[in-house]
Amino acid sequence: MKQKIAALFNQVHGRAPAVITRAPGRIEFIGNHTDYNGGTVLGAAIDRGVWVAVAPRTDGLRVFYSDMMGEKVTLAASVTAKQTGETSWINYPLGVLAALPAFQLKAPEGFDYVAISDLPTGAGLSSSAAIELASGLAFLALTGQQPDRETLVKIGKHAENNFVGVPCGILDQGVSGFGQKAHLVFIDCRGPRFDTVPLPESASFWIFNTHTKHALVDGLYAARHRECMEAAKALGVSLLVEATPEQVEAAKSRLSPDAFKRAKHVVDEIARVAQAVAALEKGDLDAVGHLLTASHRSSQHLFENSTPELDFLVDQLSATLNVHGARLTGGGFGGAVMALTSPAFGDAQAQAVADAYAKKFGARPDILHMRTGDGAEQL
Ligand code: GLA
Repeated sequence: MKQKIAALFNQVHGRAPAVITRAPGRIEFIGNHTDYNGGTVLGAAIDRGVWVAVAPRTDGLRVFYSDMMGEKVTLAASVTAKQTGETSWINYPLGVLAALPAFQLKAPEGFDYVAISDLPTGAGLSSSAAIELASGLAFLALTGQQPDRETLVKIGKHAENNFVGVPCGILDQGVSGFGQKAHLVFIDCRGPRFDTVPLPESASFWIFNTHTKHALVDGLYAARHRECMEAAKALGVSLLVEATPEQVEAAKSRLSPDAFKRAKHVVDEIARVAQAVAALEKGDLDAVGHLLTASHRSSQHLFENSTPELDFLVDQLSATLNVHGARLTGGGFGGAVMALTSPAFGDAQAQAVADAYAKKFGARPDILHMRTGDGAEQL
């Protein structure tokens, strides 16, 4: 990919790039909607992601190109307005540029820019965090600034929250920044504090991308965020992480039915993350798998961010030999299911699940056998 982006840069801009960076996509392993509630979460960086190449310009222009759009877009450095329509992918690098001053860092004025990706779109593998981190690293290298990983992660999240306008937590950017091959990233989102947990060698990941997306997905994510904050307020805590499962249970009659369900999901899910870390340390992948499936059931019934398509895949996978567990991954309301399997689970079994899905829903999910990868880096 490094050669590929260098060649494309040359073709588009007629010269060599000065800096090339890469940042991975991620799988949300367990900890659904816990991040913005101050909770804990486990994710895996994958061996696919976004590559960014840049070179400085002296005329103050910023010339963007990505293999996803295939057209050059030129903006003056003074243009900071959010883009709409076809060029809205530029909001990720623009959001990063706009975030830099908040971290006492300098944004480059003019530059040529190319981004390429080998992440499947709409699979909930967080191409947005990957482009934010790869862009952030590239812009900072171009201006000779070297932030630590945590700052880079926070710049990405700042861009997403304040420029793109999604009230996400720190999971996606944190995993893309701190990922490590053959490890999961553990994030205590309150600090935030980042750590890695070794993944047993026999752990295998599969993604089933349904390509379904609820028409109101962004609004629904924001609605869940709001409901969680309201539930925390009703419980007398600033974030749901501060409430125990017992406190939530005791407050059941005081909370609206929805507030109770959202709060119960979050506090139980935070407990499951801790149990998953303990089970991983023991190498007990069956126990981990049960927690993954329990997480999905909680998303399905309590957080209500699943769909019939995702539930069907989890049902099928749970009943399949060599599958430890399965759950929706990411924001929900469509997207993908991930399965944790033993190495004995192979393509034939995955295709059988896809066959059953196609029979019911009339379309096939994409199947991806994922490998873990390293976090964002300059190449
Ligand atoms: C999306 C967000 C994350 C996180 C997950 C749900 O992926 O970007 O911050 O909230 O949903 O766990």
